[in-house]
Amino acid sequence: MTRKRVGVLISGRGSNLQALLDAAAQPDCPFEIVLVLSNTAKVQGLERASAVGVATAVVDHRTFPDREAFEKAMTEALEAAQVELVCQAGFMRVVTPWFVTHWHDRLLNIHPSLLPAFPGLDTHGRALAAGVKLHGCSVHLVRETVDQGPILGQAAVPVLPDDDPESLAARVLEAEHRLYPTCLALYATGRIEVSGETARVESACGPGRLLINPTPEASGA
Ligand code: GAR
Repeated sequence: MTRKRVGVLISGRGSNLQALLDAAAQPDCPFEIVLVLSNTAKVQGLERASAVGVATAVVDHRTFPDREAFEKAMTEALEAAQVELVCQAGFMRVVTPWFVTHWHDRLLNIHPSLLPAFPGLDTHGRALAAGVKLHGCSVHLVRETVDQGPILGQAAVPVLPDDDPESLAARVLEAEHRLYPTCLALYATGRIEVSGETARVESACGPGRLLINPTPEASGA
């Protein structure tokens, strides 16, 4: 089996990166992480990569005259490592149409909400303020509009009455760690078919799987 060569873009903690590294360590995993690239030096994610012998690079956006020059330097590093798919994992830079076009259908992102709800920042605070009862995360292909693009997979978690943004974020993060490696493995093996702005997932779960909060049992009915 040839494994898809994946580059991961990070800006910080790298817990999603860790989930991808852990998955890639399994012998039957269809992808390998060949480069971890951060736009900030000395972040925990870089240490996580080094700890398992994965190559790292820092491309500091502040040292470039504009976004495109920064992205061209990132692309150079990714292509030098023969990267086939790029995963944004807590990468906190908005990318330009140039980068999106260059990596068209080869650039994935994880976002901490059930898109198209709550694109942008502070998703957990906004979900609580909106009073939603299910929240979660999405893995999608990156398009020009921020947090928009064909959705490859989503995971939902309940919002509980005493949640604050931190407790909700922690519950969503656990779901992220399961969702991202799953979607990447499916995508890397051609089991997600992208047609325009939607994606069809071959192994999506069938009927009879109901995610409901509150549960019918809670009503006593
Ligand atoms: C994750 O929750 C990820 O979904 C989010 O940042 C966190 C990074 O955590 N990404 C975004 O908000 C992108 N707009 P991690 O560094 O531990 O993976």
